[in-house]
Amino acid sequence: MTSNTRPLAIVTGASSGIGYELAKCCAEQGFDLLIAADQPTIHNAAQEFRTLGAAVEAIEVDLATLEGVDNLYAAAKGRPVEALLANAGHGLGHAFLDQNFNTVRHIIDTNITGTMYLIQKVGKDMRARNQGRILITGSVAGFMPGSFQAVYSGTKAFLNSFSFALRNELKDTNITVTCLMPGATETAFFARAEMLDTKVGQEAKDDPADVAKAGFEAMMKGESDVVTGWQNKLQTTMANVTPSETLAERHRKIAEPGSGKT
Ligand SMILES: NC(=O)c1ccc[n+]([C@@H]2O[C@H](COP(=O)([O-])OP(=O)(O)OC[C@H]3O[C@@H](n4cnc5c(N)ncnc54)[C@H](OP(=O)(O)O)[C@@H]3O)[C@@H](O)[C@H]2O)c1
Repeated sequence: MTSNTRPLAIVTGASSGIGYELAKCCAEQGFDLLIAADQPTIHNAAQEFRTLGAAVEAIEVDLATLEGVDNLYAAAKGRPVEALLANAGHGLGHAFLDQNFNTVRHIIDTNITGTMYLIQKVGKDMRARNQGRILITGSVAGFMPGSFQAVYSGTKAFLNSFSFALRNELKDTNITVTCLMPGATETAFFARAEMLDTKVGQEAKDDPADVAKAGFEAMMKGESDVVTGWQNKLQTTMANVTPSETLAERHRKIAEPGSGKT
């Protein structure tokens, strides 16, 4: 990274989907980028963002590990981070008792542990400068018990909750924390989660570019949270007044293996 006139944004999970679009918004709106994912495709994304005028460094790390997060943090080389977009994450379908525990653990370690570790490291620097923006990709999935996606939904409930709590802790500073809570979005998420035979895996989904734009704008305005799309807004409002048992049964209908068309 050579440019020092533009502010720096770190975007995790920027190789595809929502994270790719978030990084693109950042590049288009004048940020340099430090981006990370765990596959080599992150370098292709970096090349595309460079064409938008950003200085871009891409790093291939497993953000489920503390070492991976340390490597990402070190790659900033002490340059102030104006925006941290903690977006990397993945899920897994099927019944909990049928899931591979290594994958279960990798979801928790990526979505929660690695994300917490990165936010704490970068957040301390932001606090020392009394400046910065943090965007956390939570999910509407965090509003309801996610039968047949139970661990993933639990991690997103954690992130949604954490985001509001951290925001409150920082309310007397110039650091803002924003939670982006997308609904089902057209990305590689459902294939990676082995959910292509489910109703939610097959139904029409939101455009990741629209979701990212809403998230980026909310972050720049310093808003607390953004749920994209009126259907998702309705869903989250209803979830607040619906018994958890009913929500879990409803989630079964869209996420149980085989619930989609064969
Ligand atoms: N799609 C949806 O319906 C939806 C809805 C609500 C929230 N979300 C959330 O949105 C975020 C982005 O997901 P997406 O839908 O855009 O899916 P995606 O296209 O699969 O993107 C996930 C990104 O995260 C990266 N990633 C995952 N695990 C990682 C790890 N351990 N270390 C480093 N990078 C890792 C992936 O990199 P590699 O490809 O290199 O692994 C990829 O860049 C996730 O937090 C997800 O939970 C998605």
